[in-house]
Amino acid sequence: MSIKAYSRRHFLAGTASAAALTVFGTGELSGVSAFATPLEPSPGANLIPYGAAVRSDALAADPSYRAAVIANCQLVVPESELKWLELRPTRDEYRFEKADAIVDFARQNGIEVRGHTLAWYGALPKWTESIATRAEAERELIDHIETVVSRYKGAIPSWDVINEPLVDWPESAGSLRPSIWAKRLGTDYLRIALETTAAVDSDARLVLNEYDVEFAGPRFAARRKALIELLRSLRDRDVPLHAVGLQAHLFADRGIDRDGLQSLLSQIKALDLDVWVTELDVIDYELPGKIGERDALVAGVASRFLEAVCEVVQPKAILTWGLSDRYTWVPIYFKRRDGMPNRPLPLDAELKRKPLFDVIEQFRHKV
Ligand code: XIL
Repeated sequence: MSIKAYSRRHFLAGTASAAALTVFGTGELSGVSAFATPLEPSPGANLIPYGAAVRSDALAADPSYRAAVIANCQLVVPESELKWLELRPTRDEYRFEKADAIVDFARQNGIEVRGHTLAWYGALPKWTESIATRAEAERELIDHIETVVSRYKGAIPSWDVINEPLVDWPESAGSLRPSIWAKRLGTDYLRIALETTAAVDSDARLVLNEYDVEFAGPRFAARRKALIELLRSLRDRDVPLHAVGLQAHLFADRGIDRDGLQSLLSQIKALDLDVWVTELDVIDYELPGKIGERDALVAGVASRFLEAVCEVVQPKAILTWGLSDRYTWVPIYFKRRDGMPNRPLPLDAELKRKPLFDVIEQFRHKV
């Protein structure tokens, strides 16, 4: 389906959105989406909003999961549905059905949506490898951002515009991951992506999202140093940016560098940037099998992380990368050797609250 064909259907009769709604198969979702209508203000003014990454297929097929998302989340972020791989299976095609389904679900339930992500090295369709020149890369990146961000203007008020820009062990702010964007555009891809998003939706909060910045050890110290340099260089060039996303994929057997993290956060604050916790979970593949012990270790590391963060800044929101252990990305990369299921998230696979849930609740109270 071409973009034009899709937009025509979408704007003439809302057919495409109506089709997306039926994906969830509920009578209550009978309205046609009107993405331009602002959301109700989120509840709990004295609480930091909590949210989770969600999956459109699970929301459609699993009513108890869906109910748990509605009951617990003030925000959701599509786990994959807004990545290039999902939106752009071929160069000439935009497939919005799954992302629309999440946006409609959120709207119907008074939940806010975050966008993830516009410029990342991961989840790129194969065809992007054939982008051969600087001009072509710039055109593709700008077209993509214009199309996607304008479609969800008013419906997605914050975007992880840039995801994971730095290599694992950076020497400097220039140590960018060798994505097609960095390869063809160098560091300029950051500016292009951020400026384009700001130009299309001047109200959107623009976030640069990074991982592995909270732990003790030289690699993580190098990442903190490169990240702050990168943020300063964007600021020096007047590139629009509002916030840093701390992914916070924690490991219960890695220590949090409280001083290092707090110094990074102070420097972020000094640049007048907000902080979001965007993808919190605790990777438990090397923890003891016993559930009680494991859940306590998971909650403990999250508590040490959130305490360090909240002593310096009040995050705009705390999101976990998934809500329930029933649906988590962790076993894709960090399967346990004992064959037991991973338990990285606030609700267990039966959707019951775990100690991690209580820890997050505790840090949601604004001081
Ligand atoms: C992960 C998804 O959870 C998986 O389902 C997918 O296969 C790969 O990507 N950091 C990010 C997320 O910014 O986009 C990643 O999501 C997890 C790590």
